[in-house]
Amino acid sequence: MRLFFLLTLLNAFLFTSLFSDIKNGKEMYDEADCKRCHDDYLYGVDHRKLKSLDELDVRVKRCAVSYAGWFEEDTQDVLEYLNKKFYKFEDKK
Ligand code: HEC
Repeated sequence: MRLFFLLTLLNAFLFTSLFSDIKNGKEMYDEADCKRCHDDYLYGVDHRKLKSLDELDVRVKRCAVSYAGWFEEDTQDVLEYLNKKFYKFEDKK
């Protein structure tokens, strides 16, 4: 019973922290200049050049470094947001 309680708590915690990462990612993405070139979609959705979360990671970092100057953590949040919303690659975690 106690274990069950702890698991529920842990689960709730994981869920909220994941959710807030994605929310932060959305805000970062919306506030940065990304939409000047990307609009509300990203290239890969149509032509599917990207095949994995790792490849998406590389792309997000490249654009983030050039156009936004985010911290590592924020870049990670944006990656999660974009993946959740557009790409839907399996999360390795
Ligand atoms: C000046 C224009 C420009 C801006 C601003 C820009 N990008 Fe990009 N981005 C590009 C171009 C061009 C590509 C395509 C590169 C290629 O296919 O080789 C690209 C590719 C990408 C991709 C990969 C898309 C795919 O599925 O192939 C992602 C993800 C991405 N950008 C994210 C971002 C984010 C996040 C920002 C905001 C920090 C941003 N970009 C700002 C021009 C831009």
